[in-house]
Amino acid sequence: MILTAEKISRHFVIGERQVQALDTVTLSVSAGAFLVITGPSGSGKSTLLNLLSGFDKPSTGSVCFHGRGLETLGNREAALLRNKAFGFIYQTPHLLADKTVLENVKLPFHYGEWCDQDAVTDRCLELLEYVGLSDLTDRYPSTLSGGEMQRVVFARALAREPEIIFADEPTGSLDAMNAEKILKMLREQTEMGRSVIMVTHDNDAIQFGSSQLVLRKSRLVEKGRCITGN
Ligand SMILES: Nc1ncnc2c1ncn2[C@@H]1O[C@H](COP(=O)(O)OP(=O)(O)O)[C@@H](O)[C@H]1O
Ligand SMILES: [Mg+2]
Repeated sequence: MILTAEKISRHFVIGERQVQALDTVTLSVSAGAFLVITGPSGSGKSTLLNLLSGFDKPSTGSVCFHGRGLETLGNREAALLRNKAFGFIYQTPHLLADKTVLENVKLPFHYGEWCDQDAVTDRCLELLEYVGLSDLTDRYPSTLSGGEMQRVVFARALAREPEIIFADEPTGSLDAMNAEKILKMLREQTEMGRSVIMVTHDNDAIQFGSSQLVLRKSRLVEKGRCITGN
């Protein structure tokens, strides 16, 4: 297993109140898995994703990546790990407005170890070709459609060849055609051995998963294989 979560819980304290955002969740993710997480709004999906990717630390329990507890990492170490081993796609594409499409895809290489710039450029151009944006490499984000922006984000998420891609409602703001493009590319990545952990409300998107977890009121209520998944 690449990633495991052992009885993780997370609560937030707001004034006098305590909100239990996630309650005693245990799961594991293998290489090449396409795990889909569903559940009503407020059930803890994003909280779970943030814990699994090391953005946040559980109040109790442990998340291990290749057997190493993420809670043992300092902030910088955790950031470097995320930069190198994880890729991220969110519902709304976040791109830097004053950088071109190509420069945005190159961003992950500004952190971490030194890399050969020509090799970086070649790799990022290849990725932009993969996502179908070869003609737009010098454009600025404000001139792109939502679907194109999300494909730039996708290319950027792949830039450092991540082991796991975390996707929180990646198709939530897309039309059906662009949504399918993103889902097909995610599935292709799992066929190449990467793992995908995706939160979604979208029934069409669920079908792309190889397994599904359902959260309700902060707890895992159901585990199963997707009915028509790969
Ligand atoms: N930083 C936070 N501070 C306080 N409460 C939070 C915080 N993050 C999430 N919550 C609460 O935890 C619960 C789960 O939230 P979230 O994981 O965002 O749900 P989902 O992604 O399933 O919609 C919600 O009740 C939410 O209000
Ligand atoms: Mg959410």
